[in-house]
Amino acid sequence: MRDPSTTVRSTTQNEGVDGASTAAGEDRSVSFTEECLAAAARLAGVARRTPLEPNRRLSETTGAQVWLKREDLQVGRSYKLRGAFNLLAQLGAAERAAGAVCASAGNHGQGVAYACASLGLRGRVHVPRTTPRQKRERIAALGGHSVELVVDGDTYDDAAALAAEYAARTGATLVPAFDDRRTIAGQGTIGLEILDELGAPPDVVVVPVGGGGLLAGVATLLRERRPDVRVVGVEPKGAASMTVALREGVPVLLPDLDSFVDGAAVRRVGDVSLPLVRASGAELRTVDEGRVCTEMLDLYQVDGIIAEPAGALASAALGEEVDVPPGSTVVCLLSGGNNDVSRYAEVVERSLVHRGLKHYFLVEFPQEPGALRRFLDEVLGPDDDIVLFEYVKRDNRETGPALVGIEISSREGYEPLWARMKASPLRIQLVAPGTTAYRFLV
Ligand SMILES: Cc1ncc(COP(=O)(O)O)c(C=O)c1O
Repeated sequence: MRDPSTTVRSTTQNEGVDGASTAAGEDRSVSFTEECLAAAARLAGVARRTPLEPNRRLSETTGAQVWLKREDLQVGRSYKLRGAFNLLAQLGAAERAAGAVCASAGNHGQGVAYACASLGLRGRVHVPRTTPRQKRERIAALGGHSVELVVDGDTYDDAAALAAEYAARTGATLVPAFDDRRTIAGQGTIGLEILDELGAPPDVVVVPVGGGGLLAGVATLLRERRPDVRVVGVEPKGAASMTVALREGVPVLLPDLDSFVDGAAVRRVGDVSLPLVRASGAELRTVDEGRVCTEMLDLYQVDGIIAEPAGALASAALGEEVDVPPGSTVVCLLSGGNNDVSRYAEVVERSLVHRGLKHYFLVEFPQEPGALRRFLDEVLGPDDDIVLFEYVKRDNRETGPALVGIEISSREGYEPLWARMKASPLRIQLVAPGTTAYRFLV
């Protein structure tokens, strides 16, 4: 049982009367709950109080009572408005006049854009060129004339450097996506809503993690209000920066990053979010990107919910990574629904591979008539389906390699397929996951 009486010392800017901010570093003790309640008051009429919905599919597969907190239905289709608005609503007159700037992979920019437009502030949003078109268009639409969208740099880090440089040069307020206590308290309002909507505290709350702002907010609030709730943060396997930071005791810059779960693919967690997450006692888990894809497809096909990869992280982890006792009440935070439709092809592909249903091989075919027919007859089973075949006939060689993608109907079908391949006179090589050749394909 964790200590319910924790009071968090606030050393950052707090609200003043009429939105004037008090000095940064002011030494006054405010419980985090109070900060979240103040944020909720600011957000009233601006952000949606999103529904908490029971989910039959996840309840059936886990035996628990699973609820989804639908932040994909938030303004800007992710929870990001909460933190951005809570920060910007506290600026004083001089800060308001200087405007605001942020860097974003796409969702935070939408929150900042909408907050600027509704507060009548000038805003500037930096996104890297990798930000999907859907997110860029939404930032422009939500910000309207109040916001300038700057698409520059190859990575999020490039965009962040440009935004910081602009803030230093012009005096505009930099709005951090996760590493600011005001942002974090805004995200913490989700915790307040969950307790309120459910009526009784859940047993488990599962939260996706990028830089840790969302987890810091929700877990700190729950620690204060309901210390018996188990909070679990979930990171993508290829971007486990919070897991590493908790182990090392400090934020660590990840040398390699799989950016597929774009909202949560953060190289380094925050200096403000990390100690809050550590003090909250939240557990951390990682989930494979392929599993996230399968969950995105289930959300889409079974539940009719469009989730972006980061939005599907929490419910993807239920079962294997986050063990929930049957009969317990579980809330998964579905954090965002900004998925560019063009990504679904990759989502389907990654899901099939993760479920062991799709495999790639290099097959050396003798350059003679009938070779392909023999492969089909002797190697392929009745339910094995060729979904990719790339071959170029070359006249001056005895054999020619073909790249063959095969979809099988169940994971168990792989061993017999591989056994038939090994028994065949053809030279066949598996293109193994994790190799450079494989990354070229998937
Ligand atoms: C949809 C979505 N979920 C989760 C996260 C992770 O949040 P945080 O960086 O606060 O940990 C993000 C961050 O951008 C996001 O956009």
